Amino acid sequence: MRICVLPGDGIGPEIVAEAVRVLRALGLSLEFAEAPVGGAAYRALGHPLPESTLELARQSDAILFGAVGDFNLDTLPRELRPEQAILGLRKAFNLFANFRPALVYPELVHASTLKPEVVAGLDILIIRELTGDIYFGQPRGIRTLENGVREGFDTMRYSEPEIERVAHVAFQAARKRNKRLCSVDKANVLDTMQLWREVVIAVGKEYPDVELSHMYVDNAAMQLLKNPKQFDVIVTGNMFGDILSDEASMLTGSIGLLPSASLNEKNFGLYEPIHGSAPDIAGKGIANPLATILSAAMLLRFSGGLNAAAEQIETAVKRVLAQGYRTGDIAEPGLRTVGTREMGDAVLAAL
Ligand code: IPM
Ligand code: MG
Repeated sequence: MRICVLPGDGIGPEIVAEAVRVLRALGLSLEFAEAPVGGAAYRALGHPLPESTLELARQSDAILFGAVGDFNLDTLPRELRPEQAILGLRKAFNLFANFRPALVYPELVHASTLKPEVVAGLDILIIRELTGDIYFGQPRGIRTLENGVREGFDTMRYSEPEIERVAHVAFQAARKRNKRLCSVDKANVLDTMQLWREVVIAVGKEYPDVELSHMYVDNAAMQLLKNPKQFDVIVTGNMFGDILSDEASMLTGSIGLLPSASLNEKNFGLYEPIHGSAPDIAGKGIANPLATILSAAMLLRFSGGLNAAAEQIETAVKRVLAQGYRTGDIAEPGLRTVGTREMGDAVLAAL
C-alpha cells in the first residue's frame, strides 16, 4: 500500500510519527510519502491544502492524517484557514462516511467523568455523514441588510442520494455488530431532517434484520450521558455527528484514544484521530499517540483489507493500557505516566 502521511499542525507531527513507526514495524509492504497540510502547509506553501499535497493523496491508497488547526491563523480569510484542509480533503475524495467508534477499555473505566457502571463495557459506533449538511450547504455568508444590520447565514441541506448512501453504510455496519441502528435527526423542527428520517426508513426496508430506531438530537445528547449502552450504531448528519462524537469520546475518558475513518464508495479513506491539534501541548512530547495508532489500524482494515495486522495493533494498544502505561491525559496515581515517544515504544514492544 502507498500511504500518504499528512501530519499537519500542533501535536500532529508527534503523534503521526508514532503511528508510522508502528506501521513500519509490522513488516508489511507499505510505502510512505509525506506532505504538509493545514497551517503548516499555509506557512510553507501559502495554502492549507496545496495542489502538491492533493496530488500525493491521489496517488495513494489511503491517507494517514494528524490534525490541523493553528489559532495564530484564525484571522485569515476562511478559505486559507487550516481547517479548510480537512474539509477540502473530505470533499475532494468524497469521504462521506465517517466511522467514529467509542470504546471503553476496562482499564480506563475510571478515566471517564461518568460513573463506572454507566460506561463500563461501552462499545458504540457513530457514523457521521461527512460531505453534506450545513458544513457545505450554499448559500452561506455574512451580509449587511438594508437597515445596516449584519446577518450571518448557512444552509442545511441534504439530497436523497446523500442520505441513502450513508444509510446503507450504517445498516451494513450495524449488521456486522449487534444489529441495532439509531438514526439521530431533528425531524420535529427541520425539513431537511424530515427527509432524512423518511429516507432512512425507506432504506431500512432492505435491512429487515437490523432494528431501526429514531431519536431527536437533543434527546440523543442526553441519552448518551444517561444510558450510553442503549446504543449500538448511531447514524447522523454532519453537524450533529460532529457534536455527538465529541460527547461520546468523553464517555471513554479521553478524546486522545479515539480513532476515525472517513471513507468513500471505493474504500479509499482518510484516517485521523478525532481530537484536534492541541496547540497548548504541541512540541512537548506529551500528547497521547494512541488515537492515531488506532487510526492506523483502521487504515489497514478498511483500505487495506489487512484485518490480522489491524488486530495486532489493537491488541498491542490494549496490552500497553493493561500494563499501566498512561499519557498525561489519562494519567492515574500509581500508574506509569509516559510521553508520546515512550508510549510508541511501549506499543512497539507489545507488538
Ligand atoms: C472534526 C473536527 C472538524 C469538523 C473541524 C476541524 C473542521 O471538529 O473532525 O470533528 O468540524 O468536522
Ligand atoms: Mg469535531
